[in-house]
Amino acid sequence: MLVATHLTKQYSTSRGLITAVNGVSLKIEAGKTLGLVGESGSGKSTLGRMLLHFTPPTSGMVHFNGENLLSYTAKELKKWRQTAQMIFQDPYASLNPCMTVEDNVIEPLVIHGLEINQDIIIKAFEQVGLNPAHRFKYPQEFSGGQRQRIGIARALILNPRFIVCDEPIAALDVSVQAQIVNLLKEIQSQNGLTYLFISHDLRMVKYIADDVAVMHLGQIVEQGPTQEIFSNPQHPYTQTLLASIPKHPYKQTTHPLHKPSSTQNSDLFFPF
Ligand SMILES: Nc1ncnc2c1ncn2[C@@H]1O[C@H](COP(=O)(O)OP(=O)(O)O)[C@@H](O)[C@H]1O
Ligand SMILES: [Mg+2]
Repeated sequence: MLVATHLTKQYSTSRGLITAVNGVSLKIEAGKTLGLVGESGSGKSTLGRMLLHFTPPTSGMVHFNGENLLSYTAKELKKWRQTAQMIFQDPYASLNPCMTVEDNVIEPLVIHGLEINQDIIIKAFEQVGLNPAHRFKYPQEFSGGQRQRIGIARALILNPRFIVCDEPIAALDVSVQAQIVNLLKEIQSQNGLTYLFISHDLRMVKYIADDVAVMHLGQIVEQGPTQEIFSNPQHPYTQTLLASIPKHPYKQTTHPLHKPSSTQNSDLFFPF
């Protein structure tokens, strides 16, 4: 369904040219989840954004159902955007605090000039486990987990085929992370969605992904079926990553790839 070929992204910065993504090729099959893991700064978000053409690549190509995204006109690209969406790490930053959550959720329909009615709105809220009666409230009146549900409802409103989930649970309390991941899995099995699931959390990726790609310094050093990568990692970097997974979930402190955050509670049980 989605094929990326030799994708490269360079940024010119005050420190000179940075190669954020360096010649990455990957494939995601329809209805499947590709997990993308790697440490902070390895280029995961840049790669995810290039797959959606939010960030134009310096070189390389993206094909979606056989069509080259780079050949699209602005109008064709806007139309294609209905089929491909993004879920962000921080739903708070991606929601407009001055708009009700209903207006946040239906905004993509407004942008694309599509029909809006009560049934569509109520279904959008129910699909993500939110009470539609709360739709006239503002994002700041909801908890982190509920805000991520609102972000997911917004991503689903156009009925997309492909979603890039960029660290969708990293900013959430450990106790709600599993709920959000299970919601994403449930929605996938109902709608046959295809995911790129970006995470630094290997256990989460093992739980949700059919295939895994391991990113290191802008390159994919290893990719394959999840079971194979976890049972028989070939690349030394993957072996190091896997060795750093705590054996006992109760004893987990800060994940080695995760920048410490004050909201992390290491005492809570983590079900993966
Ligand atoms: N807009 C940008 N301008 C300049 N450098 C950027 C930009 N976005 C990302 N980078 C750099 O590209 C590299 C990869 O970043 P990113 O894709 O965000 O990695 P990750 O998501 O794995 O943490 C980092 O060195 C980052 O500083
Ligand atoms: Mg990132």
